[in-house]
Amino acid sequence: MTEERFLKLRLAVSKKIGSRRFSHTLGVETAIIELGERYLPGDLPRLRVAALLHDVTKEWPPEEQIAFCERRGIALSEEERRAPRILHAKTGAYIAEREFSPYVDKGILQAIALHTTGGRDMAVFDELLYLADYIEPTRTYADCVALRQDFFEGYKTAEDPLRHLHATVKRALLMTVEDIRRVGGSVCSATMEAIAFLDKKLSRKS
Ligand SMILES: [Fe+2]
Repeated sequence: MTEERFLKLRLAVSKKIGSRRFSHTLGVETAIIELGERYLPGDLPRLRVAALLHDVTKEWPPEEQIAFCERRGIALSEEERRAPRILHAKTGAYIAEREFSPYVDKGILQAIALHTTGGRDMAVFDELLYLADYIEPTRTYADCVALRQDFFEGYKTAEDPLRHLHATVKRALLMTVEDIRRVGGSVCSATMEAIAFLDKKLSRKS
């Protein structure tokens, strides 16, 4: 994909979200380039597309997220109805597929759909979007800063870089769980499944 097409895509995305969210989105693109160079260099253009499109519906209010899904026949679980905040991953993947079809493919749509909660079966591509969203440079929250530092420091000496990625994504998921519990929220089953999935990967001898 040419840089000119990326410019076009960025412009189209900038019209869908506010300027702060757009800065965050560009931060995720920057972070996913750093991660992609290390883990999936052949997929850099696809990773960048996933980063640019991951939050296109994040600013829709909860009732709009639910109404949109109902209108389009997108199945909603009880859990999703209770926590419509997570629905932007689903509605975002839907909009990406319908409105940005020349840019996307199944793998990109899956990564967008899983970027908020994780899921029971995550490809490395999905893990990279999840992590990029967490550690992108405009995030100043202490947990994000610490995770970013530890990830890049640890990567330098990691014997098994893939294991290092799984462990880092698991840590990000656990920190999210902790944050949700701290405010008395309920944690999505998809997040617990993602942690179990990564645990299984980490328990295997490499
Ligand atoms: Fe995001």
